[in-house]
Amino acid sequence: MESLHRFCKHLPKIELHAHLNGSIRESTLVELARERSVSLPAKLLQHEAEHHDADRDALFFNTKPRSLEECFEIFSYIPKCVDDVAALKRITREVLEDFANDNVVYLELRTGPKVLLMDHCAPEMGSCSKKQYLQTILSIMSLFENQEKDRHNHDMSSSTEKLVRLPMTPRLIVSVDRSGTVEQAQENINLAIQMVALYPDHVVGVELGGNPTRNDFRRFEPLFQKARDHGLLISIHCGEVPSATDEFDTSDTTLKKAYEEASAVLQFRPDRLGHALLLPNDLMNKLMQQPIPIECCPTSNVMTLELALHHGGNLIGGLKMHPQLQKWIERKYPFSINTDDSGIFCTNLTKEYLLVAKVFGLHENDLADIAIRAVDHIFDKPKRDALIDLMANRIEKLKNQS
Ligand code: IMP
Ligand code: ZN
Repeated sequence: MESLHRFCKHLPKIELHAHLNGSIRESTLVELARERSVSLPAKLLQHEAEHHDADRDALFFNTKPRSLEECFEIFSYIPKCVDDVAALKRITREVLEDFANDNVVYLELRTGPKVLLMDHCAPEMGSCSKKQYLQTILSIMSLFENQEKDRHNHDMSSSTEKLVRLPMTPRLIVSVDRSGTVEQAQENINLAIQMVALYPDHVVGVELGGNPTRNDFRRFEPLFQKARDHGLLISIHCGEVPSATDEFDTSDTTLKKAYEEASAVLQFRPDRLGHALLLPNDLMNKLMQQPIPIECCPTSNVMTLELALHHGGNLIGGLKMHPQLQKWIERKYPFSINTDDSGIFCTNLTKEYLLVAKVFGLHENDLADIAIRAVDHIFDKPKRDALIDLMANRIEKLKNQS
């Protein structure tokens, strides 16, 4: 493994934008589908190996069909496979393990609560409510957090390894799906408010996601205001689809609507923005004056915008075309690097850091800086100082080793 790759792997990282069901391991999805006789679409399983020649770095090639539209088609198959409590427990545990093994020290996992079967083999056992869905995830998170602390203490006392893996702290964000109804959104927000009262240390926020071509943030805005009034922090996906160039550009009603929506999102001033990659210049300039932290998901952006398509699936070529990232890096805009849907985009946070480093010529110090600055964007504010100490300490050790 080259030394920059090794550094990215061992760098303690913060993940702020990961969708639970989108982070499912592909192998698990295939297994769950087989058990339930669900036939998955070919595009989900198409492998890119044949596109590599020997001198290309396979790590940075992804020719899977993952346009925005294709992603949402794929997403529709996951609930058919993750349809009962056992499957939910399994994917939650595996996703936590995968992030922790990638040296993520703090994870905010987001998911939309769903009604599942108690047991897909025994439908007569009835269903698991949306509240039970969230409680199932929270109980796995809490168990995992305790096990991580014990494992770390044990390793510290018994191992001679200098870089004992740090413990990961997981937190939960409740999602609202913008393609659903206002009533469904209301149910999720009310549930989030209930859950934050019951589990104040673990439920940290709410978010708006889902197919960006459906509906409009403004329909849901009063609900997010209510969540804010109850102390929940808020992240909104935005700028995922093209919009008009400014408020006077009225050439196309879809573009105009996208502009107005993005403008309304910024006016609401969420605590963080998801993606924000296609924001028009005038809105981006306003944001530069009064920044809101952005959750950047490099591979996801490249794949959904099909930027790698013209480079034979080369993510490096694709990321060079990213509409914003270079500017954010140069101007030190507050952004974090994230995975979005590691199972769908075949990625992990190590790969994302390495990809950004390769494309924008960043060095170890720059990457450490991005990782540490992301701590300022976490929703569990009381954890901030301890996390910074933990990370700074580990980064110091890492640098001394290289
Ligand atoms: P879940 O909420 O755990 O079911 O995670 C999967 C869901 O996250 C998908 O069905 C989408 O609604 C949402 N999602 C995942 N990636 C994106 C994205 O890039 N933009 C908007 N929504 C997304
Ligand atoms: Zn997302």
